[in-house]
Amino acid sequence: MISRNRFLGMLIPRILLLCFCLVVAVSGIALANTGGKGEKMRKDKYPRPEDWSPEYQRKAKQRAKIKYPFVRDVKEEDPTLREMRLNEKGIGIEDIEHDYYLLSSPLVNTYKDKYEPVRFMHAKHAASLDENCAACHHYRPADESKPETVPCRSCHKESFESKSTDRPGLKGAYHLRCMGCHEKENKGPTDCQSCHQRNPVDHSKKVELPQDPKPGEVTEECLNCHEEEGKEFSETAHWLWKGPSEHTVHEQKEVDIGKGTVALNGF
Ligand code: HEC
Ligand code: HEC
Ligand code: HEC
Ligand code: HEC
Ligand code: HEC
Repeated sequence: MISRNRFLGMLIPRILLLCFCLVVAVSGIALANTGGKGEKMRKDKYPRPEDWSPEYQRKAKQRAKIKYPFVRDVKEEDPTLREMRLNEKGIGIEDIEHDYYLLSSPLVNTYKDKYEPVRFMHAKHAASLDENCAACHHYRPADESKPETVPCRSCHKESFESKSTDRPGLKGAYHLRCMGCHEKENKGPTDCQSCHQRNPVDHSKKVELPQDPKPGEVTEECLNCHEEEGKEFSETAHWLWKGPSEHTVHEQKEVDIGKGTVALNGF
């Protein structure tokens, strides 16, 4: 009898756990369905300035897609000397054509685009850094006919640079420079979420289910699109675990109980 109680003792927490999982899953779907409301829950320490017009952003997004010719050879120059020379030339904020960018390079997003474009206030940065253009534009093309300051992605041409270790890929170049300075100056965001909004995945139109779906039907629908994730999950210990368990070996029925064998996996 004791063992039966123990069996129940094991089963009840599991049922509770299962209920909990279902509640989490259902509220997750509900959240996805609310679309806009879900966004309010995003933590954003640096919210977008209100005066940002979508038109402005649309143009910035288009600009992000421009492809620049690769600059291989650069002028070897000490960053400090370069800064002095830029100052002598009188290059300043008025030479900045666009005061902000949405950084969303096709080079970086070739394989995966997990996040929305990163916003970058160009003029604001230049101003708060006393027009020190060389803090970011650290090299210039060797070719004299090219402009002094060219975009990062004309030289950092790959998303990830495996061959050359000192010239990082574009993603690395941005991360090192942007976050490096923010950390050093103790100003500006350094946590992922303040620069990156996750690309919202609106499931409200993706998931098609009958009025009162059975649990199995929900899983089936998810797996229609998330086959890979399904495969990965079914290889986890969580899914494959089988008894014996210290609670079951002396059971009358001697069932090897576990997610890999009994009903729980049927979902
Ligand atoms: C100061 C701003 C900043 C911070 C903080 C930051 N990133 Fe980025 N990240 C960028 C920029 C700029 C790009 C290049 C975006 C592009 O061109 O698409 C980028 C690109 C990426 C990309 C590839 C592009 C994409 O949309 O999927 C990933 C992945 C990424 N960052 C992950 C992270 C993670 C993880 C963290 C936190 C450890 C982080 N980033 C923190 C600025 C930042
Ligand atoms: C905090 C870093 C930073 C500073 C400081 C900075 N820039 Fe930039 N600049 C960028 C980034 C990032 C881009 C976007 C292009 C890219 O990512 O490849 C850019 C783009 C440009 C471009 C490309 C052409 C254009 O206008 O669309 C020019 C020119 C330019 N900057 C000039 C300047 C000048 C002049 C200064 C100094 C007054 C300056 N920048 C200061 C980071 C910086
Ligand atoms: C004219 C070409 C050119 C442009 C434009 C350029 N880079 Fe670089 N970058 C290089 C080269 C070459 C190296 C490797 C040599 C070195 O380590 O200094 C490099 C190295 C780097 C490094 C690693 C070494 C270090 O200094 O920390 C970072 C980070 C970096 N670049 C960021 C940027 C960012 C951000 C921009 C745009 C604002 C940019 N670069 C624009 C040519 C360029
Ligand atoms: C050389 C230093 C430096 C570099 C490089 C730099 N930043 Fe910053 N950033 C700052 C400083 C300083 C501030 C705070 C400015 C202020 O509040 O006036 C800041 C603020 C910001 C903010 C918040 C601005 C706001 O108005 O809320 C964002 C977003 C940001 N940086 C993004 C970037 C990205 C993306 C890059 C790389 C492309 C970058 N920064 C590179 C120094 C830097
Ligand atoms: C019609 C296709 C489709 C169906 C059905 C579907 N999804 Fe998705 N789901 C996507 C796509 C596309 C993405 C984004 C791409 C990615 O991250 O792989 C995504 C992303 C996700 C993410 C990651 C979100 C994030 O921000 O990282 C989760 C979690 C998720 N789906 C759960 C579910 C669940 C649970 C179900 C079943 C109720 C489901 N999906 C059904 C297409 C679908």
